[in-house]
Amino acid sequence: MSDMSKDPTQVEQRDQFKSKLGFILAAAGSAVGLGSVWKFPYVVGQNGGGAYVLVYMVAVFLIGIPVMIAEFVMGRHSGKNAVEAYSHYSKKYKAVGMTSIIVPSVILSYYCVIGGWAIMYLYLALTGKLTGLTPDQYAEVFGASSSNMGLAGLFFLIFMLLAIVTVMKGVSGGIEKVCSVLMPALFIIMIILAIVGCMQPGGFEGVKWYLKPDFSKISGSTFIYAVGQVFFTLSLGMGIMVTYSSYLSKDEDIPKAATITTIFDTLVSLLAGFAIFPAVFAFGLEPAAGPGLVFITLPNVFNQLPAGTLIAAAFYILLIFAALPSAISLLEVPVAYIIDSYHMSRVKAAWVCGIVITIIGIPTLLAYGPWSETKVMGFNFFDLYDYITSYIFLPLIGLATVLILTFSWSKEAVMMEVTNQGKLQFGLKDMWYYIVKWLNPILLVLVSLQSLGILNF
Ligand code: PHE
Repeated sequence: MSDMSKDPTQVEQRDQFKSKLGFILAAAGSAVGLGSVWKFPYVVGQNGGGAYVLVYMVAVFLIGIPVMIAEFVMGRHSGKNAVEAYSHYSKKYKAVGMTSIIVPSVILSYYCVIGGWAIMYLYLALTGKLTGLTPDQYAEVFGASSSNMGLAGLFFLIFMLLAIVTVMKGVSGGIEKVCSVLMPALFIIMIILAIVGCMQPGGFEGVKWYLKPDFSKISGSTFIYAVGQVFFTLSLGMGIMVTYSSYLSKDEDIPKAATITTIFDTLVSLLAGFAIFPAVFAFGLEPAAGPGLVFITLPNVFNQLPAGTLIAAAFYILLIFAALPSAISLLEVPVAYIIDSYHMSRVKAAWVCGIVITIIGIPTLLAYGPWSETKVMGFNFFDLYDYITSYIFLPLIGLATVLILTFSWSKEAVMMEVTNQGKLQFGLKDMWYYIVKWLNPILLVLVSLQSLGILNF
C-alpha cells in the first residue's frame, strides 16, 4: 500500500481499504513472501526439523495471531503512522515507533539480496544453466553465483529498484492485486514440487524428519528462532500492520482479518517445507545448509520434471512477485514516516530511503563474497543483520506493543476497538486480552533474555 502519507491526494487510496479484500490483500501480501518460501525452510533445517516446526506452530497461535490483532487494534484506533500510533496515548513511547522505522530498513537491506537471488535464478533458469546437473553441481552453482559480486550485486540493485519505483509511484495496491492472482499459481507449483519430492526414493524420510518432533532437539534457541520467525513472516513488530490498519474501516472484523492472514501465511510456510525436505533427503543434501537451502534444493526437483526449465522459470517469477509486496511494505514504513515528518515528496522520500537502504545492504551482499570470512560476534554480516533484527528487535518491539496496548491504553478503549464499539461478537475477546496482557509479555521477555544471551536454558 502506498497510502501511508498524509498527502491529501492519497485519500482515494484510503478508500480502497473500505473493501475487505483490499486490506486482507495488503496484509497477506506483506506477510507472504520470502519469509515463508525461503526463510522458514532453512530455519527449520538449521533447528532440527519436526521439533522446531511444533514450537513454531505453537508460537503462531499463542503469539502470532494475538500480536497481529493487537497491532491492528492499535493502528485502526489511532489512525496514524506507526510512530504516532505508539505515542497515541503517551508521547514517551515515540521511541518504540522510531525503532519500528529503523528495523524494517535493515531487514529490507538484506531482503533485497535474497530477492536478487530469486531474479538471478530466473536468469540462470532461462539461460539453461540449471538444467541437467548433479546435486553437487547445483550446490556449486549457488556458491559461484551468490559469490559473484557483479552478478548478485546487479540483481540486488534490480530488486531494490523494483521496490523503489513501485513505492515512488504509489502503485503498490495494483501490485497486490496482481500478486493475489499469481499466488494460487505459486501454491500449485509448490504442491507439484512437494509431490515430486516425496516420490523420489528416500523422499519420505524427509517428510518424517520434517513432521516428527525429536524432543531432544528442543533448546532455548529453538524458541528464539521460532518466535523471531513468527514475527518476521507475519510482518509483526515493524509498524507495518499498525500502519496498514490505520486505513482500515471501522466495521472490519479485526480478529477475523488477523486469523485469515496468519493461516494463509502459515499454509505457505508449511507447504514450502514439504517442497524442500523430501528433496533434501532424496538428493542427499544438507538440511542445515543455511540461506542457500531453497536455491540449492529446488533445481534438483525441477530437473526431474518434464518442462523443468519452464516450471523453474515460472517458480522464480512467482517468487519474485511474492517477495515484492513484502519488500514494498518494508520500504513504505520509513518512506511514510519521512513524508509525514519532513514534508518530503513521495518520490524524493522513496529515493532517499532506497539509496540509504541499498548502502546498508552492501555488507550482506559481500558476506557471500569477499567478506565471507569476516565475522562479528561469530556471525557473518548477513546472519548478524538477521539475528539482530528478527531475533532481538522484532520480539522486543512486539513486547513493547502488547505492553503499551494493555498497560498504557485503557482496557475499555481496547475492547471497544476490537469489537467495533460492541457491534462485533468476538467470543474470545477476554482470552485474547489476557494473552496479550500477561502471557505474551512473559513469553517475549523470556525469549528476549535468551536471544540477548542473558538467559541460557
Ligand atoms: N513477512 C515478509 C515475508 O515473509 C517479510 C517481511 C518482514 C515483510 C518484515 C515486512 C516486514 O517475506
